[in-house]
Amino acid sequence: MRPVILHHIASLASLAGPAGYRRSADMRDVSPLHDASIVIVDGHIHWVGRSTELDRATAPDAEELDCTGMTVLPGFVDCHTHAMFAGSRHDEFAMRASGRSYQDIAEAGGGILSTVRATRTASKRELKRTTARRLDAMMEHGTTTVEVKSGYGLSETDELKMLEALHELRQEHLATVVPTFLGAHAVPPEFAGNPGGYLDLLITRLLPYAARKGLSDTCDVFCESGYFSVEQTRRLLTTARSLGLKVRLHADQLNQIGASALGVELGAISVDHLECIDAAGIARLRGSSTAGVLLPGASFFLGGPYAPARDLIDQGIPVAIATNFNPGSCMSFSMPLMMTIACTQMRMSPEEALTASTINAAAVLGLADRVGSIEVGKAADIIVLDAPSYRSVAYEFGVNLVRRVIKNGVLLEFP
Ligand code: NIG
Repeated sequence: MRPVILHHIASLASLAGPAGYRRSADMRDVSPLHDASIVIVDGHIHWVGRSTELDRATAPDAEELDCTGMTVLPGFVDCHTHAMFAGSRHDEFAMRASGRSYQDIAEAGGGILSTVRATRTASKRELKRTTARRLDAMMEHGTTTVEVKSGYGLSETDELKMLEALHELRQEHLATVVPTFLGAHAVPPEFAGNPGGYLDLLITRLLPYAARKGLSDTCDVFCESGYFSVEQTRRLLTTARSLGLKVRLHADQLNQIGASALGVELGAISVDHLECIDAAGIARLRGSSTAGVLLPGASFFLGGPYAPARDLIDQGIPVAIATNFNPGSCMSFSMPLMMTIACTQMRMSPEEALTASTINAAAVLGLADRVGSIEVGKAADIIVLDAPSYRSVAYEFGVNLVRRVIKNGVLLEFP
């Protein structure tokens, strides 16, 4: 593999620091450097420093990228997506525009269950093809690591079809793909009125199979009124933990039913959404090992409210942001757009938004020792943006500023 040298970088935010969560004021330190250079050897970062100190002899025959006037960042880590799905919900979008709520539409048989119908009819091959195309587009917008959940199959056959498709994409796609089992995304029609029966299926068959086959090392649940109660979620996630899986929750999104408190009780990796978390919920998160994953695009797309990012950060809770890319509540995979919304609507600083989109998101996925910052020894997942400062990433919205993407040391070409 040919070495790569990036030189004369106008604005480098390396996010150098501990290989774990950054909290409070540490979220505002992105380790900026001006007129910087990076040397990449064998797919890894070999050297980072000032251009005046660059020693080209450490990487003979390197491909050189002149980054004058450019910003360089670690590739974004999107730690919460539902990027594998079939069909489109543009008609529901029109219904919402005319005043119907996300919940109304779901209660009328639309919402998640409408995507389940489409996903069940798609073959594994089709799901892989459409998801691979989405992953390509995500990389073109600077995302180099992506978590993807199952949860639009909701039957033994269709959940396994999704997990197997994700497992194969993991081997075949250039992006780093992290699969999460979300069999408890909604109660499928076959179990309408009998959620306990569906939970039994998940607990006795699907979860043990997914864990045994290594299809996912994490289990997530949509813990919400009309979906899975706190008690049902506790039952499922306790089983998941006993099988050695990590646990995450969709928590406090539409209502406050105690989901984030349950996440803390179970030692969840993260509680995601938190639009409706209250002061007591924030107090419980404080001092726990559970991170908050905020999804600004869902609030924007559904019309608010937003998670209390300021309170969470100021109280020392590690915060990540993600796109939540899915056909119902956020049909966007743009991490820069999420950063813009986080800054304009949730009062996060550009530095906090960047930390939340890189190293903290990597920590949620257990990958902070490999990606999420530009430091010697880490994978060379690097993006080059046509922007004078890392602050422009959130500031200049609605355009793709990403000009080059380097994944594991490979300079990607986009058609
Ligand atoms: O995180 N809340 C549950 N899951 C997604 C929405 C999925 C859908 O509507 O298809 C979310 O917002």
